[in-house]
Amino acid sequence: MDKVSIFEVGARDGLQNEKAVSTQDKVSLIHELADSGVRRIEAASFVSPKWVPQMADSAVVMDQIERKPNVQYSALTPNLKGLEAAIAANVDEVAIFGSASEAFSQKNINCSIEESIARFKPVMEKAKQHGLPVRGYVSCVLGCPYEGEVAISEVVRVAELLHDMGCYEISLGDTIGVGTPFKAKAMLEAVTQSVSVNKLALHFHDTYGQALANIAMCLETGITTFDSSVAGLGGCPYAKGASGNLATEDLVYMLHGMGLQTGIDIQSLAQAGDKICKALGRTNGSKVALTLLN
Ligand code: HMG
Ligand code: MG
Repeated sequence: MDKVSIFEVGARDGLQNEKAVSTQDKVSLIHELADSGVRRIEAASFVSPKWVPQMADSAVVMDQIERKPNVQYSALTPNLKGLEAAIAANVDEVAIFGSASEAFSQKNINCSIEESIARFKPVMEKAKQHGLPVRGYVSCVLGCPYEGEVAISEVVRVAELLHDMGCYEISLGDTIGVGTPFKAKAMLEAVTQSVSVNKLALHFHDTYGQALANIAMCLETGITTFDSSVAGLGGCPYAKGASGNLATEDLVYMLHGMGLQTGIDIQSLAQAGDKICKALGRTNGSKVALTLLN
């Protein structure tokens, strides 16, 4: 059976936009994700605590988790200060995050796209010195909460810049979940003209309920890496109205049903998602989990 790679972002993209939970709840979630077979976990975000207070305990989370040797624990690092904190916390990989939309770049990281690329360069260099793989995100690949339509040429340009800087993988983010299947596939195909499909990931928020359909369509390009969030946690603090990422349980159910292998035990994943939802006092955002746990 063919294998796909799930990059679980619930503990970061999810929890950054939920009301704060205890450090212990985060640590337990990360343990349970790893126990359910998730091998790539975005566990922390070394951003300004003034901007995203929910992630302020990232160093403590990294310190308290018991690591499994076959799991990659990664963190967002917008600048050198973030990278230094991530190195001190002994993360396995880091991620820089840019945008295909100028307005979103300003709102999210307080600088233009060009300034962000300049800011990422020393981050890349230092990460390389420390042997840390760097992932690159491009936000707003299918639309922007401030600018509306985003030109595919801008998505390609920013993805190419991040790739050429040395990011080992570029994750294409539909930050506000507005994409639909034909548009998603056209965007991905355009990017694959510059960056090989095996270095790309799809990161679809599910605001309009399109993420699964978009992924199903994009599978035709040969893409095999998908970001998702257990229980559909989260959203984006700088993208008003954006709901959480596609729920990992829903994605895993679809992929398994299509004969693709994820290595994830869906039942224990659903339990992990349900536990964190209870801690948050929130409804579970995964239809599959709601059904499995019924
Ligand atoms: P800034 O205010 O322009 O930065 O913010 P600055 O360098 O002028 O520093 C201002 C203050 O922040 C200083 O503190 C710094 O020390 C501190 P003060 O002197 O005022 O006390 N600071 C930091 N503290 C901790 N860690 C750091 C750090 N850097 C500066 N790394 C900055 C620029 C990038 C820091 C800020 O805009 C920021 O933190 N933005 C992060 C926003 C964010 O986390 N957004 C969500 C993640 S992205 C996302 O969700 C999209 C994604 O999922 C893909 C998709 O869906 O599209 C990835
Ligand atoms: Mg996101």
